[in-house]
Amino acid sequence: MSEFSFRVDRMRLRETSFDLGFADTVKAPLKAGEAMLRVDAFALTANNITYGVAGDQIGYWQFFPQTLPWGQIPVWGFGTVIASDVEGVDVGQRFYGYFPMASHVLVEPGKVSAHGFFCQASHRRDLPQAYNQYSLATAELGFPPEEDRMRMLLNPLFTTAFLLAAQLKDAHYFSAESILLTSASSKTAMSLAYLLNRYHDINVIGLTSEANVDFVQSLGIYQCVLAYDALDQIVVGPAALIDIAGNADVRARLHDRFAEQLYHSSLVGITHYEADPGGRAPLPGARPTPFFAPSQAEKMIKNGGQDRFRAELAAQWSDFIGRAKDWFELQVVNDPVGLESVYQQVAGNPPPKNGYLFERHSG
Ligand SMILES: NC(=O)c1ccc[n+]([C@@H]2O[C@H](COP(=O)([O-])OP(=O)(O)OC[C@H]3O[C@@H](n4cnc5c(N)ncnc54)[C@H](OP(=O)(O)O)[C@@H]3O)[C@@H](O)[C@H]2O)c1
Repeated sequence: MSEFSFRVDRMRLRETSFDLGFADTVKAPLKAGEAMLRVDAFALTANNITYGVAGDQIGYWQFFPQTLPWGQIPVWGFGTVIASDVEGVDVGQRFYGYFPMASHVLVEPGKVSAHGFFCQASHRRDLPQAYNQYSLATAELGFPPEEDRMRMLLNPLFTTAFLLAAQLKDAHYFSAESILLTSASSKTAMSLAYLLNRYHDINVIGLTSEANVDFVQSLGIYQCVLAYDALDQIVVGPAALIDIAGNADVRARLHDRFAEQLYHSSLVGITHYEADPGGRAPLPGARPTPFFAPSQAEKMIKNGGQDRFRAELAAQWSDFIGRAKDWFELQVVNDPVGLESVYQQVAGNPPPKNGYLFERHSG
């Protein structure tokens, strides 16, 4: 099928379907102010599964609305304009941004500039602006095509790590001597460990599943790597926890072990989304505080300006991918059947070395 739209059951994320009426949506004439983009490629990681898990809480289902019980999980990727009723958004232009897992997406571009546009559709207006931004993807604007795959796979997660590292630095690492990262094998944690190791003088301890210990150790970016079952071997001292697993049991054990020596506890992810969510409260040590990358980015841009933010992020990103590109084995699928299979794999905790991508067949 050349037009497809992949959906998941919002309550049971492993149940999926294709919207059979989607071809009609794609073929309908454009209304004033609309543009149709062909979705060329995107990546899938646990981050996208979290969009489904937190879909109601944070509003991720609202980006590409579907009728219940279905929802469309957003992904990061590239798309090309195939029809446009908007001045400055031209057929053939390629954009990087937030897409549905579908062959096409309809957007309502506004705030059009030399860097791209923001989708201003009414159902997206109240959602974080970072997710409504479509960046014109030319080499001159910092999108060399040879980086496309790594950008889709890693850039949103690296950006989160960049923001976390900046927050830690601004807070003088909360006076901690070590940073503890759960789901140390995730791309978000790997990015943060890389940045802390490269630009900061602080000890980084990675916690991961037994099966992933060797892989995480082989990266050489953590001073110490331990399996969750071995966390009572960590030497206790002032520490800050960046919790990417979101596993209530692991978090409680870390708080118990470090107690008053845990000076900061940040809730970043929920990769262990099938674990028992019930957590006890209050926990000893610092109170767990949610971290949300778009809000932190807005704060940083407000304080230091957009240009400085872009330049610092771009410099650290190009340094990072020089190293990180060797960490992954890419698994690329090109059709809806392959997409469904990759989605199920990503939802089912695949080996961290695998990087999953969808790329549309050219032609
Ligand atoms: N707060 C924010 O603003 C923000 C921004 C970006 C990302 N995040 C969050 O950070 C998390 C990491 O995202 P990512 O894309 O970097 O992940 P990823 O690279 O796909 O992470 C893979 C790792 O996560 C764990 N995992 C994945 N699925 C699992 C499952 N079903 N059961 C148990 N463990 C599982 C495993 O790590 P271990 O074995 O090491 O536990 C696995 O190796 C996500 O929850 C994401 O939403 C949050």
